[in-house]
Amino acid sequence: MGSACLTCASTYCLFLVSALSLVLLVSSSALATHHGDSPSRRSPKLKMDQAVLLIHNEIHEKFYIYWRSDQCYQCLFQTLSVTSPTKGRDTEMAIVDTRHAITLQLNNTSNVELCRVHYRFREFGNYSLWVKSNYSGTKDVTCGIIINYNPGYTNFPIVIAAFVYVAIFIVLTVGSFLLRWSPVKNWLCKQINPTETDRLINSELGSPSRADLCSQDAHLATWTTVPQRLRSLDTFRGLALMIMVFVNYGGGGYWFFKHQSWNGLTLADLVFPWFVFIMGTSIHLSLNSMLRKGNSRWKLFWKVLWRSIQLFLIGIFVINENYCRSPLSWSDIRIMGVLQRLSLTYLVVSVLELLFTKPLPDALPQNRTCFLMQDVVMFWPQWLIILALEAAWLCLTLLLPVPECPTGYLGPGGIGDLGKYPNCTGGAAGYIDRLVLGENHIYQHPSSNVIYKTTVPYDPEGILGTLNSIVMAFLGLQAGKVLVFYKNQHKQIMVRFFTWSVVMGVISAILTKCSMNEGFIPVNKNLWSISYVTTLSCFAFFLLLIIYFLVDVKRYWKGAPFFYPGMNSILVYVGHEVFENYFPFKWKMQDSQSHAQHLTQNLVATSIWVLIAYILYKKKIFWKI
Ligand SMILES: *[C@@H]1O[C@H](CO)[C@@H](O)[C@H](O)[C@H]1NC(C)=O
Ligand SMILES: *[C@@H]1O[C@H](CO)[C@@H](O)[C@H](O)[C@H]1NC(C)=O
Ligand SMILES: *[C@@H]1O[C@H](CO)[C@@H](O)[C@H](O)[C@H]1NC(C)=O
Ligand SMILES: *[C@@H]1O[C@H](CO)[C@@H](O)[C@H](O)[C@H]1NC(C)=O
Ligand SMILES: *[C@@H]1O[C@H](CO)[C@@H](O)[C@H](O)[C@H]1NC(C)=O
Repeated sequence: MGSACLTCASTYCLFLVSALSLVLLVSSSALATHHGDSPSRRSPKLKMDQAVLLIHNEIHEKFYIYWRSDQCYQCLFQTLSVTSPTKGRDTEMAIVDTRHAITLQLNNTSNVELCRVHYRFREFGNYSLWVKSNYSGTKDVTCGIIINYNPGYTNFPIVIAAFVYVAIFIVLTVGSFLLRWSPVKNWLCKQINPTETDRLINSELGSPSRADLCSQDAHLATWTTVPQRLRSLDTFRGLALMIMVFVNYGGGGYWFFKHQSWNGLTLADLVFPWFVFIMGTSIHLSLNSMLRKGNSRWKLFWKVLWRSIQLFLIGIFVINENYCRSPLSWSDIRIMGVLQRLSLTYLVVSVLELLFTKPLPDALPQNRTCFLMQDVVMFWPQWLIILALEAAWLCLTLLLPVPECPTGYLGPGGIGDLGKYPNCTGGAAGYIDRLVLGENHIYQHPSSNVIYKTTVPYDPEGILGTLNSIVMAFLGLQAGKVLVFYKNQHKQIMVRFFTWSVVMGVISAILTKCSMNEGFIPVNKNLWSISYVTTLSCFAFFLLLIIYFLVDVKRYWKGAPFFYPGMNSILVYVGHEVFENYFPFKWKMQDSQSHAQHLTQNLVATSIWVLIAYILYKKKIFWKI
């Protein structure tokens, strides 16, 4: 009964702490709101990522102001929208972007450049641009920026949130320590064990009594501790999933928690490939164990096919989310999406596995170090097919002629590349999707329209990118092979992970020439370029190495809290998409332009999903397809 009480008490304790911490998070957001983020201190006209620029014209002639973001590679200058000047005064107001440093260009009416300034504006700031003549020599114009009001550090809410999570961590650690301390334990057991009447009332209402729950919990707890499954894989998957949920919910409105506009990486761009990677790892582990149990390959194939179809259909259901508001019509249904891509990737990689894998016997020779490459060489037909797929991606991307666009175009279109190819967003990848699926059946708001002002629809989960997502899963599958092949040889496994990480890193460095935009093939989430796959698998192998070391080798960390969502990933993914707009995942904000409030909302929503996953884990409810 002692341990039953303990688990039961710790469950209640956890609820208490979570409730408390959510309250803490919300109230600290209020604090953060007052720290420079409040509407009273910033101009009411400003949205997130904006600042006020007052333009003082002292040269008394008309000029135009253009701007360009540093992030925008080879972009055209855009007209800065300037409010009409008030009569009698030469001061005008403009709103400037604060995500990246920008260049302002001033041209006179005959389009001769007067001056340019490069400046990093701070969010919600108030600045003045003084345009003066310098009559000392020739008639030069000088431009200078002066700070009227600096709102300070607007990333302050992130710091507070970090403190709140550290506080929660400390409370949980101290709490679980206290629960094991016998005086507290005994007291709690007395408090929690219900009286007879209590139990009767509960059973009358049809709910199991708390005592039942306690003993049931204890029972479950004993048989979940069987150390079969690798906890590090679920932890890794859960980590990727929770970042994905946080990012999909808005990432606090910070640009660095949102997807990169075109080339490059932000936090948001890391997680989907990691998810694909770990899926590959799991495919090898599960198919290998099922084959060893004597399942026939055909039977497994039907199972795999059925799972893929289910995943694809769930994906269509999840991304066409207007099912509640209006009837779903074929004319604008989106076909590809995250789950659809996972489904196709899963199908192809599993079939590759079923065709070529040889289940390893349980008793392998203990010392397998001399066969340095055997886990790769043994499966050469798989590698041939993967290389063929990659060759297909490269050929289609670089050689497919796209009407009115340069062949092999990898850019964003829009105002990029000096506006020469506005409708070429994504080159061949975009063209294939528009041709095969149709403009109305692909994603309409690609992240490239934020900075590059693209207008054509482009699907970041399109057809061509799926080839590379298969490659990504296949690289993840190598991690699975390493885990099975060198079972229980921790050092070997970690050396192999590290080697893979280095190899992928070197390939990425060559492909990208270590630059964001100027490499042979830049890292790009929208295209799922091959350098994106190699870079992200370099990170993935390294991260897996660390998590494996902490969770499965040394057991310093149990993988909480990421472990729980990782065990129930489909449920959490589908759930977070379907209930996105409902309380408690979303509520009406007092001030929709405050990072503090966005961050609170998104973190609360993400934390609630962790909590839901934890409860379901405790109740042994898993959505498997
Ligand atoms: C910006 O600051 C100037 C000078 O301090 C002030 O006159 C102006 O009202 C401010 N503008 C806005 C939009 O806050
Ligand atoms: C623009 O600047 C150039 C160079 O200073 C000058 O020659 C030209 O007359 C200016 N145009 C106007 C409309 O002021
Ligand atoms: C401003 O003038 C420069 C040269 O004087 C020209 O190259 C540039 O295109 C002009 N900017 C815009 C946006 O027209
Ligand atoms: C005016 O121009 C001269 C020479 O170009 C320079 O030395 C001086 O600092 C400038 N004055 C101002 C106020 O910018
Ligand atoms: C790009 O597409 C838009 C809308 O479809 C069209 O108006 C425009 O002319 C196109 N631009 C080019 C350069 O083809």
